Amino acid sequence: MNFQLTDEHLTIKKAAHDFAVNSCLPGVIERDEKQVFPREQVIQLAELGFMGMMVKPEWGGSGMDTISYVLALEEISKIDASTSVCMSVNNSLVCWGLEAYGTEAQKQKYLVPLAQGMKDGELYIGAFLLSEPEAGSDATSQRTVVEDKGSHYLLNGTKNWITNGGTASVYLVMAQTDASKGSKGITTFIVEKSWPGVQVGAKENKLGIRGSDTHSISFTDVEVPKENRIGDEGFGFTFAMKTLAGGRIGIASQALGIASGAYELSARYATQRKAFGKEIFQHQAIQFKLADMATRIEAARLLCFHAAWEKDHGLDYTTSSSMAKVFASEAAMWTTTEAVQIHGGYGYVKEYHVERLMRDAKITQIYEGTSEIQRIVIARGVLR
Ligand code: CAA
Repeated sequence: MNFQLTDEHLTIKKAAHDFAVNSCLPGVIERDEKQVFPREQVIQLAELGFMGMMVKPEWGGSGMDTISYVLALEEISKIDASTSVCMSVNNSLVCWGLEAYGTEAQKQKYLVPLAQGMKDGELYIGAFLLSEPEAGSDATSQRTVVEDKGSHYLLNGTKNWITNGGTASVYLVMAQTDASKGSKGITTFIVEKSWPGVQVGAKENKLGIRGSDTHSISFTDVEVPKENRIGDEGFGFTFAMKTLAGGRIGIASQALGIASGAYELSARYATQRKAFGKEIFQHQAIQFKLADMATRIEAARLLCFHAAWEKDHGLDYTTSSSMAKVFASEAAMWTTTEAVQIHGGYGYVKEYHVERLMRDAKITQIYEGTSEIQRIVIARGVLR
């Protein structure tokens, strides 16, 4: 066992840290308030090679390992979780699925520009369309349908809470090809936003990650070419579950970053703020909070690294990624709430950042599988 980061890992961590401080921090409060998508920041992520970090260079990616991905997401999420979720979804839910299961032609046409995050000088990212108004946790209950019309498929239905929904050029859409077969009747298709019949709904007005671009997407008689099906008919649910296992490492890392951002702000504040004649870090009540925060963050980080290590070594990471996500997201919610408490009245106003981190933390317990769903996955894994 080796807990030492390599020189390459340290370089990536520093690049992500510098990007977060120099590019994300300026304007982060305003983007949150006005729900502004961090377009400039995402373009810079593309230039850094962070939109397809783990994709092989032959497919436009940076060929990095998953540990690097965890490190980069933690650093960016310390400051701006709206930017980091855009990066996480493009890397884990879109590029990974295409690289693992796409055809050569699909990879050439879609994966290369998605991994580069740019096409013809414009931002080019993807989104993952599984959730529906009545299919969130119960993901097999898909109502979106696809009919085989011989020369093409015809897609109809509505997807909800889609991260990158308005900005993405490419959607990976899960839909029923045969409702009688339950989870075995779901298939995944690559759909372009620009096609006739694709409609982007209003942007959701959210509690947190308010800069991220969340929409419903509707499909009305959208013609999907046969060559845009990923895998065989009926492979869509397995595709979604396999893809989400990696996605959960991304969201766990995002939660880890939110927690460590809140911890760093709190530790700094505790050395500056005085009460009862001394800096508040000298009071045991504050020391114990900081000690518990640091301990939970370290445990979350190790769970993220472990899941990433299993993925990089070709092992099954379904259980470890769910463990990382449930633990890190709960650590993020707890740590950010304590961070607001340490900051007192200042914590409740926007300028001190911790109230935003607290609002941002909540979604990590919900998307890419709620904490309850993670516990189902973990129980199945450990009780097998
Ligand atoms: N890998 C491969 N196959 C899997 C699998 C996995 N990880 N998990 C399940 N399967 C297979 C099962 O083996 C089963 O196959 P058999 O019928 O041959 O046995 C089939 O898929 C159906 O599985 P289940 O019977 O376990 O299905 P279920 O209805 O009980 O649901 C669940 C399982 C784990 C609860 C699943 O529905 C789930 O993960 N739900 C949460 C969905 C989710 O995470 N949504 C997030 C939306 S995406 C998002 O948030 C993106 C964003 O924009 C940020």
